Amino acid sequence: MEWEFSLETIHDTARAFWEAAGQSRVFAFHGDMGAGKTTFIHALCAVKGIKGSVGSPTFSLINEYSLEENGKTLPFYHMDLYRLKDEEEAARAGVEDALYSGAYCLVEWPEKAPGIFPDDTRHVYIRLIDTKNRRLRLTEN
Ligand SMILES: Nc1ncnc2c1ncn2[C@@H]1O[C@H](COP(=O)(O)OP(=O)(O)OP(=O)(O)O)[C@@H](O)[C@H]1O
Ligand SMILES: [Mg+2]
Repeated sequence: MEWEFSLETIHDTARAFWEAAGQSRVFAFHGDMGAGKTTFIHALCAVKGIKGSVGSPTFSLINEYSLEENGKTLPFYHMDLYRLKDEEEAARAGVEDALYSGAYCLVEWPEKAPGIFPDDTRHVYIRLIDTKNRRLRLTEN
């Protein structure tokens, strides 16, 4: 699936993304610095109804939010591996635990630890078209 969006249409695209995502839980977001990974992930959180952050994201690679779905409270992880040195550090930081926990995991800079992702990870590619517009591609599962 592929979409083009601006900040005006980002929430519509986020809704379409979740529809296309089906039962997938782990998403690896590829794209240059400033492409719009964090911005789009925030839109994905917003349309799922996630509001505040939990824990102490400042010092960790992992931001944990909670998601109310079907009457249950589920953890929902937003990770940014940019500052990660290697896959060993990913394991120590709990990144692998999160990836295999069955929770939603939205991960920026997956290139920093490509070997740790589950086989059914959906890959997302975001690129800049111009200052306002981005193109996003979600791989099939
Ligand atoms: N359509 C758009 N989608 C996303 N971001 C946009 C869009 N149009 C403009 N922007 C702007 O582009 C910037 C994207 O920054 P963002 O932090 O989301 O990028 P990133 O890919 O997460 O970068 P990094 O690799 O540094 O984490 C923001 O300043 C945002 O306001
Ligand atoms: Mg970012």
